[in-house]
Amino acid sequence: MNLMDDKKIEEIKNTLAKRVVPLPDGTTLPCLGQGTWYMGENPQERNKEIKALQLGLSLGMTLIDTAEMYGNGDSERLVGEAIKGRRDEVFIVSKVYPHHAGLDMISNACENSLKRLGTDRLDLYLLHWRGSVPLAETIEGMEKLREAGKILRWGVSNFDTVDMEELWNTTNGKNSMTNEVLYHLGSRGIDFDLLPWHREHNMPIMAYSPLAQGGSLRRQLLSDPTIQDIADKYNAQPLQIALAWTIRSNSVIAIPKAVQEEHVFANAEAAMIELVEEDLKRLDQVFPKPTRKMPLDII
Ligand SMILES: NC(=O)c1ccc[n+]([C@@H]2O[C@H](COP(=O)([O-])OP(=O)(O)OC[C@H]3O[C@@H](n4cnc5c(N)ncnc54)[C@H](OP(=O)(O)O)[C@@H]3O)[C@@H](O)[C@H]2O)c1
Repeated sequence: MNLMDDKKIEEIKNTLAKRVVPLPDGTTLPCLGQGTWYMGENPQERNKEIKALQLGLSLGMTLIDTAEMYGNGDSERLVGEAIKGRRDEVFIVSKVYPHHAGLDMISNACENSLKRLGTDRLDLYLLHWRGSVPLAETIEGMEKLREAGKILRWGVSNFDTVDMEELWNTTNGKNSMTNEVLYHLGSRGIDFDLLPWHREHNMPIMAYSPLAQGGSLRRQLLSDPTIQDIADKYNAQPLQIALAWTIRSNSVIAIPKAVQEEHVFANAEAAMIELVEEDLKRLDQVFPKPTRKMPLDII
């Protein structure tokens, strides 16, 4: 089944090649990548999941986000299979468990991720969330992996503003390339302080669960009349508007996860929707930006 004609596919690819977000080291990435949580866990879904990731790559969503945690390595194995023969097209992001992020374990954890992914380097390696290992030690481990060429860059995930401040003030902490956090229209706590902090420090955010898990975290994203009205204006679906909102600036890379072919197309197509000031104002009225500090939303 081809849900889109070739002209549309070319348009999407060209848009994603142009709508890029710079990392602090100058590398540019498409504003949309692909998530893989829960992928690789059900053998019956395997082929479909591989095809979905390959389709996403072909459409220009060339960043793939995985983690040693996902399916105990099964997600990384699936990604490895999906990118076989296309390694150089892909920007692979994986994450280390906090309890593997000390100097005694990080190199082994990384080596295991590389094996499962069938590659010799990760493009980006993230600390999945903060645990009990001191930040300085994790940074040292990340820097050693970088010097050894096992990872090309590193960053963090689920860090709130105070954590970013601490990172910034730790030796080599400024080498972090990103912070992957939950961000969608129904959960915009980071708009108060974390996102401004990132803009000030020229470090993009990677937005996880940008579709609020298909609307299940916030059902109103699927049924809200304002979102629907804006969707009608762009001849789009409500979740495409939610995704377009997440990537409205060039300081956020969103990583929606999709297995259904129509979802992969819809997500890539959302890069073609550029919301205008009037749309953003209307969305702000229904989903207001917080006026005080909110604790970082985490799932
Ligand atoms: N760093 C962290 O701590 C952390 C935490 C959570 C997630 N993540 C990363 O972020 C990725 C994305 O987050 P997520 O998986 O939690 O949620 P998400 O991307 O917000 O939503 C995924 C769900 O939405 C559905 N979907 C996808 N596109 C759709 C569309 N266009 N219309 C309607 N439904 C659609 C998917 O269905 P189908 O799959 O059936 O198509 C799936 O059920 C994860 O996969 C993972 O890589 C990181």
